[in-house]
Amino acid sequence: MRKNIVAGNWKMNTTLNQGKELVKDIIKNVTQISYDVTLIIAPPFTHLAGLSKLMYNTGIFLSAQNVADNESGAFTGEVSASMIKSTGAQYTIIGHSERRKYYDETDEIILEKILLSLQNDLSPIVCCGELLDDRENNKHFEIVKKQIENSVLKISREEFDRIIIAYEPVWAIGTGKTASPEQAQEMHAYIRSLIQNYFDEQVADELSILYGGSCKPSNAKELFKQQDVDGGLIGGASLKANDFIEIAKAF
Ligand code: PGA
Repeated sequence: MRKNIVAGNWKMNTTLNQGKELVKDIIKNVTQISYDVTLIIAPPFTHLAGLSKLMYNTGIFLSAQNVADNESGAFTGEVSASMIKSTGAQYTIIGHSERRKYYDETDEIILEKILLSLQNDLSPIVCCGELLDDRENNKHFEIVKKQIENSVLKISREEFDRIIIAYEPVWAIGTGKTASPEQAQEMHAYIRSLIQNYFDEQVADELSILYGGSCKPSNAKELFKQQDVDGGLIGGASLKANDFIEIAKAF
């Protein structure tokens, strides 16, 4: 079944203690959130094991923000899917535009990361989205189609069950500019149609597609009301427990 999901991407923010305080504040208020909303937190790698203990039995899930594109070995500084799994995390964010931009992640690398996550029983949250230039030149559908075709459409129908897609127009990330509910709906419906054409209607129907990019308490309701918007990948606003909870209550 298609899930409503609100995921907080903390990016490179918080010390371990700050992260614990933030999680405690979220746990305190988690009962305000509807049972049919899946809440996920993606802190830095260093926090995963510690926060996993705090979150045990709370109904909140844990995600890494990235994962290595190799299984193990001489890759100094990298963190593998099996390591992430061993912390108690259930998800990985893959292909975030900041990874594509600052760390040269290509669609090929992103596909490796998806496959390794799946092999290690982690559900990938796969990001896609166009630059401002792409949108202004009316290339946004073409760009997103290519990102989807080169990543999640290269895996099997069975494996696809675990995939979550996050549409994050790059021009809206951390800029305060949000895609309008209509722009988000239009792209989400397009992504769902790509999945339907490649697999089938059932797979497309069951896929959760999250919106990301300056999502906040004041705009979450309008965005989540759209038929093909199944939740959000929240950056800045996920660092404030109240805002994060308010967004999750917007369903
Ligand atoms: P933002 O970030 O909510 O701060 O725009 C979203 C994201 O990058 O996942």
